[in-house]
Order: sequence, then structure tokens, then C-alpha cells
Amino acid sequence: MFIRPLKNFDRVLVAAADKSITHRAVMFNAFARGEAVVENALLGGDCRSTIACMRALGATIDVDGSTVRIKGAPGFCDAVLDAGNSGTTTRLLTGLLAGMNVTASIDGDESLRTRPMKRVTDPLSLMGADVTTTGGKVPILIRPASLKGIDYVLPVASAQVKSALILAGLHADGVTRVTEPIKSRDHTELMLRAMGARIETDGLTVSVKRSELKSADVRVPGDVSSAAFLLGAAAVVKGGRVTVKRVGLNGTRTGILTVLREMGAKIEIDNFGDEIEPYGDVTLSHTDLKPFTIEKEIVPSLIDELPLLAALACYADGVSVIKGAEELRVKESDRITTTVEALKNLGGDVEPTPDGMIIRGKGGLEGGGTVRAYGDHRIAMTAAIAALGSEKGCEIEGAETAAISYPGFWEIIC
Ligand code: S3P
Repeated sequence: MFIRPLKNFDRVLVAAADKSITHRAVMFNAFARGEAVVENALLGGDCRSTIACMRALGATIDVDGSTVRIKGAPGFCDAVLDAGNSGTTTRLLTGLLAGMNVTASIDGDESLRTRPMKRVTDPLSLMGADVTTTGGKVPILIRPASLKGIDYVLPVASAQVKSALILAGLHADGVTRVTEPIKSRDHTELMLRAMGARIETDGLTVSVKRSELKSADVRVPGDVSSAAFLLGAAAVVKGGRVTVKRVGLNGTRTGILTVLREMGAKIEIDNFGDEIEPYGDVTLSHTDLKPFTIEKEIVPSLIDELPLLAALACYADGVSVIKGAEELRVKESDRITTTVEALKNLGGDVEPTPDGMIIRGKGGLEGGGTVRAYGDHRIAMTAAIAALGSEKGCEIEGAETAAISYPGFWEIIC
């Protein structure tokens, strides 16, 4: 895939639907009582993996365009599950299945087989779960067990781990309490509450009791993590301006907008709404960008946008620093290494650190190199945005991986 620099980017667009919310809407309705319609679902690779897993467990799921109709199966059957590339599917399902009286295995692709799973299975074992990993990774085997609630303090802020324990808590005796060091995305809590679960949030602690869920219709907002690439395109192309409609604006996800504003980007938000999750239309108009420093407190609210922010930092004048982001090393690729390599190939001055990056911005990128995506959707899209504002563009190897979270991305950008 060759990315040609753009002379102008002036568009009104609808971003791809939210990946995290689609996973949850499909997964939770698949074991709830009743029938539900999920509108504007994301049908990228990861969410298709969730749909396939929930069908294998016994739920009836029909997909028609971006509308997904789900008839829940409150009791699941035994199954052999393939989570593909999806860490969210794997971790949430491990927690969900731990107390559901089934025998199930979860495996996935080469990238998923490198990702840490003990962060989920260790606390689940403390709850009494019978879950075994393969050297801390998938394949994971889950067998029937009775669960009891625990008080657990997460060593890292992770919505996937938090969600796994909350889902296990729905099938456990007593109260399951999960406390995070920094608040991560709370889509699980919001959706479970809307489905009638006994769940409460108090600061950084979520408490959940055994609950039966009622189906709930969901209209999925746009994914702020996908919208970020479109905003990024307007930020790097001189004179650029983009409006992205109906973007999810959950405050646990909008760190990207905070940092873009710190960088001097002109951002306006209107047409606010709230249906389980808040949303609105976001407009960004091109301005000269300033460097930023990202501290660990804000990292969970923009974890998936850090490669893109590193690319935008190359367009600022001065030194930007990303700290407290060691979690990037265990994403679909080691995103510190792959981001640094990608931006260097485009002429950027970027240095890795154990927990982040130092980016010496020179007000733009020369481009001209070849970037490998390493099977990581966000690296492929980051390279594309970095190249759009550059002098020479770039070649991307493995660009098709963008379809994991953003089918249709290349049609917008090229
Ligand atoms: C996600 C949580 C984040 C994020 C991932 C999706 C979720 O992962 O990086 O893309 O839907 O819960 P962690 O929970 O591991 O930080």
C-alpha cells in the first residue's frame, strides 16, 4: 500500500463503530435473557471473533449489514473457541466462562499467542476458577468451578482484566471488588448496569454481586480511537479540517482530545447525546502543533492512541515525551518498538525508553521509507497518518491489518 501525501483534507465523516463497546454488546447480550438488537456494530476482525465465539457457546446471532440481532443463551455449551487476534475477546471470555459451568478452550493467532494472560487467570484462580494457560499465554483451558467473590487490587490499569473479574463476579458467591491504580475504560460497568446487573462504582473500586442479565438494545457510537486517526489526518495536513460524527465521548477514553488540545489543535464538539454511552460530533481544524508530555495518570484514557500521538509529535516543533506507558509493550505488537521503527523510517527522530518514547519534533516528516505494520492495525494506521502530511509519503507492508478495528480505513485515506 502506497500512501501519497495529501494537499488537503477537508471532510465530514462517520468513524468506524466502537470496538470495545461492540465486543461487550455482543458478548453480554449473548448470555442475557431475551433478544436484543445491536445497531451500528463494528464488524472488524476482532468483533467477528467475538461473534463467532458466542455462536459456538450457543447464542443465536444474525448479522445484517451493521445490525446484529442476538438471542441470548443464559446457559452456555462446551466449546473450542478461536479468538483470532483479539485480546479483549480472550480476556473477557475467560472471566465470563470461569463460573458458567462449561469446559472451553480459547486459542488465537500468532500475535495473541504472545500476549500475557496470567494477569487474568491469577486473580480468577483466587476466586476458585479452574483455568489453565499454556505458559501464561493462550491456549487457555476453562473447566467448571464454583467461584467466590474476592477483593482484588489490579497491579496495572487494564479494562480487560477489570472486565474479566467483573464478569466472573456475576457468577460468584458474595461480593467481587476490583480496585484499579488508575481508572480505565468503564464500558463494561455502564453496559452491565443498563442490563440490570448488581454493580456499583466507588472511585477506583467496582463491586459486583451475582446477577442475571436482561437483554438490552445498543446503538454503538463511533470509536474515538478510530476517529483519532481522522482527526490526526486534519492535524498533519496544512489547512486540514475534519468533522467526525457521533464519536463516543466516554471520559475514560477521551485523553486523546485533551492532549490534542494541549498541542494547540482547535477542537470543537457539538450535537452531544447519551445512550448508555455519551457521544458527539468532533471537529478538528489544522493549526501548528506544540510538543507534549504524557504522564502515567492519563495513559489508560489514550493507551491505543499513543502510536498516533508519537506520529503527531513529529509534526510539532520541540521535544515530546511519553512516560508510564510500558503496557504498550504487550499490545498486538510491542508498540514502543514498532512505533519507533515506523517513525524513524519516515525520517522522525524518535527514541524508545523502557516505558515510552522521546520524540524530537521538527515540524514535519520527510517520508519516503517503507513501514512494516507487524500485524498491528494501529501501527499500520499510524504510519498512514504520519505519511499523509509528509513530503514523500510511504509504503506500508501489511496494511490490510487495519481491518481488525477499521474496515474501510484505506478508502477514506487513499
Ligand atoms: C480494551 C482495553 C485496552 C485496550 C484495548 C481494548 C477493552 O486494553 O488497549 O484495545 O476493550 O477493554 P487493556 O485493558 O489491556 O489496557
